[in-house]
Amino acid sequence: EDPKNVVVASTMLVLGLGGAAISIVNGDFSITISGMSLAAVVGILLNLCIPNNKEEKKKIESADAKKEKETIMQSKELKHPLIEHKLAILRDKKTGTKEFRELTSEVAMFLCYEAMEEAELEEVEIETPITKLKTGKLNEDKYAFVPILRAGMGMLEGITRVIPNAKIGHIGMYRDEETFEPVNYFFKVPKHIEDKEVIILGPMLATGGSAVDAIELLKSKGVKKMKFLCIIAAPEGLERVQKEHPDVQIYCAHIDDHLNENKYIVPGLGDAGDRIFGTK
Ligand code: URA
Repeated sequence: EDPKNVVVASTMLVLGLGGAAISIVNGDFSITISGMSLAAVVGILLNLCIPNNKEEKKKIESADAKKEKETIMQSKELKHPLIEHKLAILRDKKTGTKEFRELTSEVAMFLCYEAMEEAELEEVEIETPITKLKTGKLNEDKYAFVPILRAGMGMLEGITRVIPNAKIGHIGMYRDEETFEPVNYFFKVPKHIEDKEVIILGPMLATGGSAVDAIELLKSKGVKKMKFLCIIAAPEGLERVQKEHPDVQIYCAHIDDHLNENKYIVPGLGDAGDRIFGTK
């Protein structure tokens, strides 16, 4: 398969089997090289002249590896005293449903702010009370937010407060109590989802199972650009999503310590769905 070898071998075969000959005549001296001898000489010369393909291959491979590394999006953790303060109240088991829901929504708003850091704006001209101004506006229609049911719904209110015209999809998943693997039971997303940037909402990135499944479902519908927002992430979940979908950037308010034997995040905040909806 090495083009260099193909060129050398085929040239040698054509010269050797085709009966080509070269005569060098200098006064009384003359020498004729033909057939396989000519093929061998040309083969050696070609082998020396054509650059080695292995080096080229190595260069391409290392460029590919570099490119792959660059596409592995780093997860972004919101490091801010205000976020730590909000999380302290959210984590506290004494915090009631109303406050828990409000705080989930608020933290989601900060996550959304961070996730839109590179959003492209469309140039518009407006008139302030003082002067005309060329500035940028977000085309909200280009974004779709997809909460993973049910806990993801708790983040939606905060998101729609900052991007009120974004389209909303829903992915329904529950955790199988024995295998801890996600089971998909509902999928409804806005029309032309493949043309939108999709931001998935799931407050607890624990094993990463639901996140990976949701991303795969959306990719199968043609979605090319995705982000994942969560309030708390476990290192195990982060690693899994980053490994399986390195193109999806994850934004989280905090990366916690580990998962316990029941796959709950430690220290975490308990069952986010139950706390948002007051079901326990
Ligand atoms: N889901 C939750 O709601 N909490 C966890 O700690 C893990 C998954």
